[in-house]
Amino acid sequence: MRVLGIETSCDETGIAIYDDVLGLLTNQLYSQVKLHADYGGVVPELASRDHVRKIIPLIQAALKESDLKSNQIDAIAYTAGPGLMGSLLVGATVGSALAFAWNVPVIPVNHMEAHLLAPMMEENPPQVPFLALLVSGGHTQLIKVTGIGNYKLLGESIDDAVGEAFDKTAKLLGFDYPGGPMLSHIAKHGRPGRFTFPYPMTNRPGFDFSFSGLKTCVANIIRKSPADQLTRADIAYAFEDAVINTLMIKCQRALEHIGLNRLVVSGGVSANHTLRKRMSEMMQLRKGEVFYACPTLCTDNGAMIAYTGMVRLKENFPKTNFTVNVYPRWSLTELPSLEYK
Ligand code: KG4
Ligand code: ZN
Repeated sequence: MRVLGIETSCDETGIAIYDDVLGLLTNQLYSQVKLHADYGGVVPELASRDHVRKIIPLIQAALKESDLKSNQIDAIAYTAGPGLMGSLLVGATVGSALAFAWNVPVIPVNHMEAHLLAPMMEENPPQVPFLALLVSGGHTQLIKVTGIGNYKLLGESIDDAVGEAFDKTAKLLGFDYPGGPMLSHIAKHGRPGRFTFPYPMTNRPGFDFSFSGLKTCVANIIRKSPADQLTRADIAYAFEDAVINTLMIKCQRALEHIGLNRLVVSGGVSANHTLRKRMSEMMQLRKGEVFYACPTLCTDNGAMIAYTGMVRLKENFPKTNFTVNVYPRWSLTELPSLEYK
């Protein structure tokens, strides 16, 4: 079975084909980063228009690269939410229209579930149950996963998501949107000890996060410090260290609470090399296991949508329905559950 996945929830057009026997056949990605850079963030109207321009050429490129004809595609999966309304509508409309024309089922996919399941495309996939830490540009969540669709939200950010905190702090340090990866890059040259930032909400019980105060602390330090490269690197180091330590404390607390020792870290921020290294060390010390997707499948992509669509289609859910539905706000916990095989 081959599923064509369409991702258009934000500023990346992603098209992929996933084969249940051969795995990922093609993974096409067009990033709109340059388009939005001058505005310091994603402009929804420009994003939708660019998806319209790029989606068909990318589908053609995906078919060409995998050497497939349209009649060799068995289903189409598209991101139905959460995300920007206009952007979602592009993928949903094109996906539904193609499915209608090709006479195949169409599967609306939850973007956050797709991030969560992305590590399952790797060679050594995680087995349920596990604790999932979802860290993206819009979400920071700790979820107990006992099956596909069996998601219990343990905690989440009450303000900025981790990716958002990275991007806003990077902006304060002078980097273009989305500056998260750049911040992490210069943090590698930073020295420990010169600056220290708080680990928000770790001294309170529970599993929620808050990152907006941390960004304000960084803003205050930047104002009082010299603007040389090394100072910027030292600040970036201290910020990243505080974020990672906070995530580690909450992950350990949640693992103990649910009595598990298996962790899955996913979403765009899980591409962060230092985060992966520190989480792996932590789980090694605990004699537990940790799983990630490869870095290109951590950030937004069509592969995770195709894969999630395939998992849900195999379980015969949902029934083919050509009503185009998108859900700009759509919690993982509202998803119907499937027995995971
Ligand atoms: O999952 P994603 O691609 O899109 C959303 O669903 O939001 O996540 C994008 C977020 C951005 O905030 C980006 O700056 C952040 O992930 N990100 C990183 C890194 N790579 C991506 N943050 C820190 N370090 C990275 N290496
Ligand atoms: Zn995402």
